[in-house]
Amino acid sequence: MPDFSSRDPLAPAFWDERFDKQFTPWDRGGAPAELRDFVAQAPRPLTALAPGCGSAWELALMLDAGWDATAIDFSASAVARAKTLAGKWADRIVQADFFEYTPPRPLDLVYEQAFLCALPRARWPEVARRWEQLLRSGGLLAGYFYFDNAPKGPPFGIARERLDELLTPGFDCIVDEAVSDSIPVFAGKERWMVWRRK
Ligand SMILES: C[S@@+](CC[C@H](N)C(=O)[O-])C[C@H]1O[C@@H](n2cnc3c(N)ncnc32)[C@H](O)[C@@H]1O
Repeated sequence: MPDFSSRDPLAPAFWDERFDKQFTPWDRGGAPAELRDFVAQAPRPLTALAPGCGSAWELALMLDAGWDATAIDFSASAVARAKTLAGKWADRIVQADFFEYTPPRPLDLVYEQAFLCALPRARWPEVARRWEQLLRSGGLLAGYFYFDNAPKGPPFGIARERLDELLTPGFDCIVDEAVSDSIPVFAGKERWMVWRRK
């Protein structure tokens, strides 16, 4: 592992340094299987946001399917990498802080992948409230949730009871499935979930 000077995952510098040193063990290197099925089976193109997008592999999948998708990240280095990978879709990647970003159009879907687990546990209630604010009634929070109780992170795993506590005030869980193509960092500890905004 390289040496890092930034130890605070709440600071963009923490993530810049890891992207700059190409230390990104959370990066799946492509769009995962359950998301591919979900996009293929969507009854209509959705307006979607991918917060904390990193390399934003999922963005092209959504845009190629006709979705109106945007990926955001507060790390300049992540955004630079994502724009390089996105090719013709580069302008759909925006450097922005999730807690301050306001989408230009109402969202049908927020995509979660290694964003909640990137943030210290004390920040999770704010994430859940922001997801609630971003989604209209019936809108979906879909993605990958990492379950673990190791005290140190990132990744900071969650307990199922804690996830329910955070999300059930605003969401109903409508899908909860095993993941078929986890990368080592998440293997055996993640679930593909879809939560519908009440
Ligand atoms: C573990 S990485 C996951 C990246 C990507 N979702 C993936 O699965 O490959 C977490 C990402 O969240 C970003 N991030 C953390 N806090 C953020 C915030 N407040 N607003 C926007 N992005 C944030 C980081 O810069 C980093 O790229």
